[in-house]
Amino acid sequence: MPSSQPTSLHECLKSTKYAGIDQDLSLLIEDLAASCISISQAVQQGALANILGSAGTGNVQGETQQKLDIYANDVLLNAHSHTGRLAAMASEEMEHIYPVPNPVGKYLLLFDPLDGSSNIDVNVSIGTIFSILKNSSSASTVSEADFLQSGSRQVAAGYVLYGPQTILVLTVGAGVDMFTLDQQKNQFFLSNENVQIPKDTKEFAINMSNMRHWAPPVVRYVNECLSGSTGVRNKDFNMRWIASMVADVHRILIRGGVFMYPWDQREPNKPGKLRLLYEANPMSFLVEQAGGASCNGEVRILDIQPSQLHERVSVILGSKNEVDLIMKYHKTN
Ligand code: AHG
Ligand code: MN
Ligand code: MN
Repeated sequence: MPSSQPTSLHECLKSTKYAGIDQDLSLLIEDLAASCISISQAVQQGALANILGSAGTGNVQGETQQKLDIYANDVLLNAHSHTGRLAAMASEEMEHIYPVPNPVGKYLLLFDPLDGSSNIDVNVSIGTIFSILKNSSSASTVSEADFLQSGSRQVAAGYVLYGPQTILVLTVGAGVDMFTLDQQKNQFFLSNENVQIPKDTKEFAINMSNMRHWAPPVVRYVNECLSGSTGVRNKDFNMRWIASMVADVHRILIRGGVFMYPWDQREPNKPGKLRLLYEANPMSFLVEQAGGASCNGEVRILDIQPSQLHERVSVILGSKNEVDLIMKYHKTN
């Protein structure tokens, strides 16, 4: 049990570490935390709240929506529509952006309301991912183009993991902090400050069932991991794949590792499975802020100039030395 009084998210956002953010952003983060507490409560109720199973609808990605995808999306939309802190929102579950009714604020919020949808019904960790941008347009109405900013322009990003504990992981560009939900008090408390990803690792995460479709540099890297202590890497590797990016990235933030969802040749014109603006960018911001690295094999993900709201990207992120090695394999193949 912790001996001293824990620091709440609210107190932390008022501390000098967060002095670089304005009041609106601070309150926006607290709004997000409150929305995710509601989602967490629904997740815990599961079948009792009738939120498991398919909604029978599809999203713009061509994926079947789960009831919880829609529920989480609605919670976030409702909570942020009238705060005066946002100009518009965008979501994995909505084809178009959602300009907020008056009062209009200065931030843009993007989210993957429910990440890891295939894990909902099997009671495995899932999460909500968010990215916050400034609305730099002077136009009176927000357009999709205003959201097409590179990840390096994010002013805050994070996720809430609904696992054995509900944990909020946050960066505003001054390192990464983790906050655990106290279920009795319905409040997040600081539980892991200035998280650092170890530079080296012996653990990789990739959906191995796609191996025959990968590009040669990815096949080479994974084969070298699999060859273990008798191969060129001279060490045995472990593999994990939770199929919820939030849970895989959380493990990497805690103990290191590398996560890959690479391009593959089944759909050569599709850059990858994961979405740039509300999956890869926020996760890349967190990973870099924790001393890790993130690329698409060719360039840093945070440097990519998006051209579409739901654009996809190949993702390789985690322990810095490992990501650098995979990048080198892409450049030399
Ligand atoms: P979402 O549930 O938001 O569509 O995202 C799922 C993503 C990501 O969380 C995970 O890493 C990946 O899809 C899993 O894909 P596979 O089922 O192909 O392994
Ligand atoms: Mn997702
Ligand atoms: Mn999702």
